[in-house]
Amino acid sequence: MKLLTVVGARPQFIKAAVGSRVFRKKHTEILVHTGQHYDANMSDIFFEEMDIPHPDYNLGISGGSHGKMTGEMLTAIEEILLKEQPDMMLVYGDTNSTLAAALAAVKLHIPVAHVESGNRFGTLDSPEEVNRICTDHVSAIRFACTQSALDSLVKENLGTNSYCVGDPMYDAFLYYREKAEKLTFEMKGLDGSRISVPKRFYYMTCHRQENTGDPQILAEILSAMDALDASTVYPVHPRNHKTVQMLMDKHHYKQLLFVEPVGYLESIYLVSNAEKVVTDSGGLQREAFFAEKKCVTVLDFVVWPETMIGNRNQLAKPLKGDILAKLATPQEISCKDAPFGDGDSAQHICRYLEEFQKERV
Ligand code: UD1
Ligand code: UDP
Repeated sequence: MKLLTVVGARPQFIKAAVGSRVFRKKHTEILVHTGQHYDANMSDIFFEEMDIPHPDYNLGISGGSHGKMTGEMLTAIEEILLKEQPDMMLVYGDTNSTLAAALAAVKLHIPVAHVESGNRFGTLDSPEEVNRICTDHVSAIRFACTQSALDSLVKENLGTNSYCVGDPMYDAFLYYREKAEKLTFEMKGLDGSRISVPKRFYYMTCHRQENTGDPQILAEILSAMDALDASTVYPVHPRNHKTVQMLMDKHHYKQLLFVEPVGYLESIYLVSNAEKVVTDSGGLQREAFFAEKKCVTVLDFVVWPETMIGNRNQLAKPLKGDILAKLATPQEISCKDAPFGDGDSAQHICRYLEEFQKERV
């Protein structure tokens, strides 16, 4: 089988790391990087740390409006598909790169396989929701990470060729955890300084438009973290650098360590050693769950209901009082199930793709 995989953003590199390792044992994979994330600490570091194969193509497309970015990617991916003639297109997650690749392929009648299918936020205001719904509906085969995601697909009449295989982020967590645990590293402050990982700390990531588009909202979230009993490590996504810099200058936070984005292994180290986690990231919510750390998700909607069991993950409004109250609510560690699969999702995906391909030819 000849697969063509498209990635472009940080969370997709992580999922592709586990997928490519498995698929390439038996099949040919062409890897396309759209360029959506391009800073060394948002892209190269993942390929190096996780041994992801070097992309066969890098389109260098990033920034600008969502329509422009997606349209440019679609055009460029179409050209590659015409040249490479793969049996199948493989896409991960919900980014603009995911949608562009799925559309380019389906229009050329190349079947699309969508990994991390079925999650729903319940609002089309979210660009990720739009990308995921459209991708799911044009895909020929869909892989849900959890039962609730599969249920959503069934509700949308997409039950045929949809499978619950587990979460590639869980595969990655199990595979790299040991390496991450042994790590000693320093982080790079936004001002270029070297920062050691404190003994006790909270870990926070926050990059979504809803929380960072209006500086006052981000200021409220930061003031909650500044009121805690230990430092907070906050790797700042490049889209938020300017806003964060402005807030840092204005508020002189005492407990916040603003650092450049860290690599995957460093991030797993941080989540595994943090007191608690505060985030608006879909990936970090699950990693907090895998590491059995209390998580507070600053969003209005539940994306990963399986993580919410026993208050292990709770939604909070972007308000100091609500974030602190949720952080203070103890988690009941009573979940013995593995709602994110058996750590072998990539193997299951590979097997279903092989069966699908066999039926086609
Ligand atoms: C994207 C995904 C989001 C995912 C996030 C992961 C979409 C719609 N959203 O959001 O689902 O949670 O990635 O991190 O695809 N930038 C840099 N350097 C980089 C990367 C980005 O400066 O290495 C800048 C871009 O130029 C752009 C801004 O950051 O101006 C936002 O990047 P973009 O890829 O559009 O969206 P994300 O917020 O990263
Ligand atoms: N992550 C990372 N470095 C950072 C922040 C996060 O490697 O500085 C990892 C994090 O551990 C998780 C993934 O990036 O594995 C989540 O990606 P992101 O938050 O960018 O996207 P989302 O999950 O929201 O789609």
